[in-house]
Formats: sequence, C-alpha cells, structure tokens
Amino acid sequence: MLGFSSSLFILLLTVAEMGFGQNTAKFSRDDFPSHFVFGSGTSAYQVEGAAFDDGRTPSIWDNFTHAGNLDDKSNGDIACDQYHKYKFLIMKLLDDYIYSANDATWCNNVLSLYLLQEDVKLMVDTGLEAYRFSISWSRLIPNGRGPVNPKGLQYYNNLINELTIHGIQPHVTLFHYDLPQVLEDEYEGWLGRDIVKDFTAYADVCFREFGDRVLYWTTVNEANVFALGSYDSGIFPPKRCSSPYGANCASGNSTSEPYIVAHNILLAHASAARLYKKKYQAKQHGFIGLNLFIYWFIPLTNAKEDVLATQRAYDFYVGWFFDPLVFGDYPDTMKKNVGSRIPSFTPHQSEQVKGSFDFFGVNHYGTSYIKDNPNSLKIDQRDFNEDMAAKLVFKRNDLPVGEFPIIASGMQEVLEYVKQVYGNPPIYIHENGQMTLRNASLNDTSRVKYLEAYIGSLLNAVRNGSDTRGYFSWSFLDVFELLDGYKSSFGLYYIDMNDRDLKRYPKLSAQWYSNFLKGRSSISNVTIETKNNLSAPSQITHSSQ
Ligand code: BGC
Repeated sequence: MLGFSSSLFILLLTVAEMGFGQNTAKFSRDDFPSHFVFGSGTSAYQVEGAAFDDGRTPSIWDNFTHAGNLDDKSNGDIACDQYHKYKFLIMKLLDDYIYSANDATWCNNVLSLYLLQEDVKLMVDTGLEAYRFSISWSRLIPNGRGPVNPKGLQYYNNLINELTIHGIQPHVTLFHYDLPQVLEDEYEGWLGRDIVKDFTAYADVCFREFGDRVLYWTTVNEANVFALGSYDSGIFPPKRCSSPYGANCASGNSTSEPYIVAHNILLAHASAARLYKKKYQAKQHGFIGLNLFIYWFIPLTNAKEDVLATQRAYDFYVGWFFDPLVFGDYPDTMKKNVGSRIPSFTPHQSEQVKGSFDFFGVNHYGTSYIKDNPNSLKIDQRDFNEDMAAKLVFKRNDLPVGEFPIIASGMQEVLEYVKQVYGNPPIYIHENGQMTLRNASLNDTSRVKYLEAYIGSLLNAVRNGSDTRGYFSWSFLDVFELLDGYKSSFGLYYIDMNDRDLKRYPKLSAQWYSNFLKGRSSISNVTIETKNNLSAPSQITHSSQ
C-alpha cells in the first residue's frame, strides 16, 4: 500500500529509470498508417454495473456470479458503474443584452444543461481514437427478443453520441459472454438453433438504432474461448461440462457441446452479417467481423510430431472459425479427429458462412508451446483438447505473481499466420494487455513494458504487409475481471473501490499510452501531466463488491 506522495515519487523515478526519453522511443504513433486507429476497450458486464436498473434483466454472468462461482465471491452488480457516470454540467452559452419595450436592459445568461459521460472525458484526455465496448443484450432487449427497453436504448445512444461528438470511433461488440438468462432458460442459449433467429433480431435492432454512428461491428467476442470455457471446461457460465472434463458441472457434454455451440455461433454470425450487408451496409458504410482469442503456438521441440501438432493446434483454435469463414468448411484435421461430433455444414450454410465478414478481430495476450499428444486419440469419449491430440505447455520462468510473460514477437507471428493462411484479411487487434494484481501500484511498469513491446511487434507486422487496421489495449479501466473478479486487473486506470464515486486514477501505463497517442515520448511530458492531473487515493486498497 503506497501513499500518494511516495507512489508519485516512485512513478517519476521509474519513468526516468525506464528511459522513456525523447531519444529512446523506437517508434511513434506516426510510424503507423494514418487510417490505423488506436483505442482501448471494456465490455458491458465488466464495466457498466447498474445490473438491476432501468429494466435490465440478468444475463448468464449475473446468475453465475450470484451463485458464488468466483473465488472472491464478487460480481458485476456495480463494476465500474459506467452506466451512472454521467454528470450534469451547467454551461453558460452566451451573454446577451435584451432591450425591452420600457427601455430597461438586463443581462440574460443563457444556461444550458449538458450531460457529460465522465469516462468519455477520460478517453478524450488520454487521446483515445477509438473505444471498444459491448452492448448488454439484456439491457437493450430484456426478454431476449421482442420489445426494446427505452432506457437501454437511451443509454447506448448517449454513450455513442458522446464518443462521436469527441471524434472517438465506437467499435461495438454484440455478444461478449453475457447472454440473456431468459434465453438460456428457454432453449439452452447457444446450444439451441433458435439463437440464430434471436441473435439476428437483436443485431437488427442495434444496426437500425446505432448504425448511423457505429461503423465497426463485431458479432461475437472470443467465439473459441466462449465455446470451450462455457461448454468443455465449464469455467464460464452457463457452466456446462461432463466428467471427466471440467469443473463439476450439473449438466453438459464436453465431448460434443463445444462443437454444437461453435456451429451455432458461425450460423448466427453469418445471419447477422448477411442482414447487415443486405439492409444496412450500403447506407451506413460500416464493417462487420468476428473475434477470436489467438495464442502464438510454438512447437515444444523440433521433432516432426511437435511441429505437426502445432499446426493442428492452429487448426483447432483458429481454423475452427476462420476456415469456415474464409473457405466454407472446418479444417480436415478437425473433421477427421472429431468425426460425427462436429456438425456438418449443408451446402447452403457453407455458402452463407463463407465470406461473411469484413474483418477479423483478434485478442492476443500470450504464447504457448505445443507438445504432440497422440495417445489421446485412443480415448473413446474425447473433448476438444484430446481431439486436438496436442498439449499446451506454458513456460513462466520467474514472473511476478499474476503477470504474463512478455513474448512480444507473438503478435507479429499471429498476424503473419493469419495473413498467410487466410489471404491477408483486414484485422483489428481487439484485446492485448498485461495482467497485474488489482491492488498493485499505480506504477505499473510491467504493463508499460508489455504495451511498448507488443505495439512494436504489431508495427513490424504492419510494415511486413499485414492488413491490421487497429489496436485496442485491454482494458481502459480496471474492470470486473471474468473469473478473477476484483483480484486482478488490466486497466490503464485504477478505480478506488473504497471511494463512493469509484474515482479513476491514471496508472503509469495510461500516461505512457497517452503520450504515445499524442505523438510525444519525452520524460518531461509524462512528469508534467502527472503533476497536473494525478491525484491518487490516500491508499490503494481493494474490496470486492
Ligand atoms: C476477455 C475479456 C477479459 C480478458 C482478460 C479476454 O479473454 O475477452 O473480457 O477481461 O480476456 O481476462
């Protein structure tokens, strides 16, 4: 726990020590093409709070956290309270002297009320060019389908207006892990084919209501991790898995459900994309894509088996979704190893899925080694990992607790892989960032090192011809973390959970990113801004909600 003055002191020392000096920056914002956008992101359940306000109904994440599934027993009921972070500002527009009939004059101050979104103000101050956020389906359409909630509509309209007024591009994700619970109860959510119709109708509302201002739409966040985390290991809601796999789930089938869910995601994505392209794109001129979580995979040894296993790992983690989107079918390795448990595309479905995207979203955090695991194919009832016949091996060395190793070349490698295998599609890096303990210091040097290294690697990929068009650090604020609650954090801004107003405080990484975005790299800029803008909490503590 550091007091403000000591943390500021260390912040200044560190900035000096790390040598973010005028001449040390290896690259700058201007080295990226001018159309390239830099932003930061959050997601609805992780940032909004107001879980029971203004007509929102529970999502599967509300039920999951309220059942006490997280170690710290926390939930997103309040999270960063972004939903309520509006302040009325009284603005004096003009002074005018009005002449009246009886020759009296008086000053008429025209006052106007302006609603300020405080986090958007912080984004403007930071210099963000874009903000990635998701829409809470159950806030906008509380029954999952049917009537739109006017309060939900108003909330997103206000947010989008604030962003666009300030020249910050909104990049919107439609589904970021938080399905309306009502649809889970009715037909088992993503396991049921009805999801295709309901997701498309929800997307239609979003395109119709927000598409005049939102040009970047992502249908599903981390489709691969959602299918695996929720239906194989069961660590995410709706917590489905089957023995011997996963986390003691009450129901589910780890050997088949992830494949069914993935298939439905692809059909729902394709259906929403088709609708967008037919009904809105010509008028709104926007773009639509799907997002995956992608590791850089490295063979554990030079043995041919590990090299082949590494290709299989890419087929399973990436080809599972990108192959159907680009080529119209699952990779042969998957069809061979999974057999009848992986659904087949009818010719009509294949045609609709193929090409149904304008860009790919990529979340990249780290690297895994791959070891061949041929014996797993001898097991009858196999899950995804055993079908893949490969093991992920992570090397951590002597890392501080809870931090990711910085293997920044992974960014370039992943982008090269997608470029070469899928014909260089447009890409947005939707998430990339360093994890630290939530109550660690504002002096987050490991996050600064991580961001600098990964953005540098991204620049190498762009220079080498990758059609990557944007980068979003994860996350803008210290949000409610999926699985970790309030124990770990990724934010550029710390939030004092003991403060009634949940005040935001810039970390060193916020200062570094801001300077990078503003084309500055000098130490003096960092320190001057620190002195002027940073007023930190009396102590950095943490409490769960
Ligand atoms: C998810 C985020 C999450 C982040 C860090 C990503 O997999 O999309 O919602 O907060 O990882 O754990």
